[in-house]
Order: sequence, then C-alpha cells, then structure tokens
Amino acid sequence: MNIGPIKLKNKTVFAPLAGISDLPLRLMVKKAGCALVYSEMVSSHGLVYKSPKTSRLLESCPQEKPLAVQLFGSDPAIMAEAAAVVQSLGADIVDINFGCSVRKILKSGSGAALMKTPDKAEKLLKATRKAIDIPLSIKIRSGWDYTGEQAIKIAKIAQDCGVDCIAIHPRTATQGFGGQADWSLIKTLKERVSLPIIGNGDVLTSSDAIRLQRQTNCDAIMVGRGAIGNPLLFSQIIARFQDQPEPCINIEDRNKMMLDYLDAVINYYGEKTACYLIRSRLCWFVKGLPLSSKFRISIRKVSSRAEALLKIKEYFNTLNNDTK
Ligand SMILES: Cc1cc2nc3c(=O)[nH]c(=O)nc-3n(C[C@H](O)[C@H](O)[C@H](O)COP(=O)(O)O)c2cc1C
Repeated sequence: MNIGPIKLKNKTVFAPLAGISDLPLRLMVKKAGCALVYSEMVSSHGLVYKSPKTSRLLESCPQEKPLAVQLFGSDPAIMAEAAAVVQSLGADIVDINFGCSVRKILKSGSGAALMKTPDKAEKLLKATRKAIDIPLSIKIRSGWDYTGEQAIKIAKIAQDCGVDCIAIHPRTATQGFGGQADWSLIKTLKERVSLPIIGNGDVLTSSDAIRLQRQTNCDAIMVGRGAIGNPLLFSQIIARFQDQPEPCINIEDRNKMMLDYLDAVINYYGEKTACYLIRSRLCWFVKGLPLSSKFRISIRKVSSRAEALLKIKEYFNTLNNDTK
C-alpha cells in the first residue's frame, strides 16, 4: 500500500491513542513489524502557540519511521501553520482528526464536529494541503448517524482536496466505543472513493484482522486497543497476511514485553515519571491473565525500577507456579 510516495512494508497500522501511543509504545509495535504508526493527537493551536505539553508529543526517532502525526483543530490558517511545522520536524504524514467526540474538542468545532460541517472541513483540508508537500490523511468516524452518509461525503471532499489516505473507525460520534464497528461502511467507502482506505475497529486478534481485510477489501488495517499491552499482536497479524504460521504469545513473551516496556518508559521519561506512569500502564500487559487484579494492586505505589522489577518477578513466579 502507498500513501502518496510512502510505501508501507505491510498492511498493518498502529492507531493514534491519546495518552497511550507515545514514543516508547510506538517503538515496540514497530519492532513487532507494524508498518505505520500514528502519534497521539496534537493540538494545532498548542503547536502554533508553542505549548510545552505539545512539543513532547512531537518527539520521534528514525527507528519509528514512517510516522503520521495527528493534529486536531478547526481553524484552517492555524491547521495549515501547524502542519507546516510538523513537516519541518520530519514527520512523514500529517493526519487530521475527524473522529474525536470528547466534549471539549467538539465545542471548538474540531474532531467529529467536522463530520457535520463539510464546508468547514473543506476549507481546513484545502489550507492544509497547500501548506505541506508530504502526504495528508484524515481519520474519520461514520458521522453522527448510522447511515454513514457523512463519512462518504467527507471522504469525497477529502479526495477532491488532495488528501492521500483515509482511515475510518466506523462507529458514530455518539457511539463512543459501544456496540460493534460497522465494517460494511469500510467496504462502501472503499467502493466509493479511489483513495487508499485504512479499516479500523475491533481488531483484537489476527483472525479479526484477516476478516476485516477480506470483508472490506481495505488497503490496510489499523489496530488500537488490541495492541495496548500486546504489541506482538502485529507479528501475529503480519504472519497471517503472509500465510505463515502465527507465532504463539506465551507467558514468557508477556513477561518480556512488560520488562521491555518498563525499560523503554524509564529511558524515555526518567525513573520518577515512569514509575508514576507504569502504576497503571503495566496492567495493560496482564489483561486477561489470571491474578491480574492482584498484580494491579501490587504495583499501585511502585516508586523505583527495582521495586517494579520485583513485583513483576513475583507476579510471573506465582503465575508459573499456579499454572504448573
Ligand atoms: C484511549 C484511547 C485514545 C484514543 N485516542 C485517539 C486519538 O488521539 N486520535 C484518534 O483519531 N483516535 C483515537 N482513539 C480511537 C482509536 O484510534 C481507534 O479508532 C479506536 O480505538 C478503534 O480501534 P480499536 O477497536 O482497534 O481500538 C482513541 C481510542 C482510545 C481507546
């Protein structure tokens, strides 16, 4: 699959996840073979007005490339300026968020609010397209009702404005994460526009990924929640797409993923901040495993790498003894 001149090495994409898809996690999914990663969403306004919080979200490194940086906002001039900054910092793709339905974002006319203001969306896309040479993509939802008409309308506008790719999470803006993603809309979009389409929503296993691609004919599949705490899911999906046997993820792999993540987060944020973050984040890696709630409690007050290592060791020792 190509996004403009960028050729993806396979059909897998890691979703933008605010507060989660930071550089350490993106590097882990990349190592597991993922072809394209997205940054967390970044405020175009914060970027142009140099908010310190924003600059950290833009940090990257060569190993994670190609990188799509996702921006949100609704002012064409500010979005264009922010996109130019993102390009100058070396991002490969600028993505604009058309899907976020958090109240604060909607109030400013950004995110999913753009799905019901096509004229505004068009101005935003035209201004941004003019400001950058690198590929431009958008990530949309179904819209504000179940028909998907708004998604099709926005997709056609995007195509006419020179957008290079569309990712779609086919749930309505009011649906949040409830119910099921309507994959049939991905298929419809693929038939109605000629741009590459990245299908997204409810891929938790490699079988889901294969089904999504076969049912919709989408060009790539985007995984969000399924890869949180399980970056190796990408290696399984890639194997299936290549008709290879799927690598099995056992308890030792889970243990290793957690240790790798711990060190990555400490290297990136420093031990103090990392310890605060891992009190919740290490729980991602034990989701669905026995005694996960006991582990959650045990790391609630962790304050050093050594202590975290001990808690992880204790947990996996107990797990191994219990399952023998
Ligand atoms: C915690 C969380 C944060 C998210 N942040 C973003 C974001 O910053 N930008 C965006 O476009 N979508 C965001 N999403 C939506 C995901 O990118 C994705 O579309 C959605 O989770 C459906 O895919 P999945 O079923 O594979 O998780 C977020 C989702 C979650 C659960």
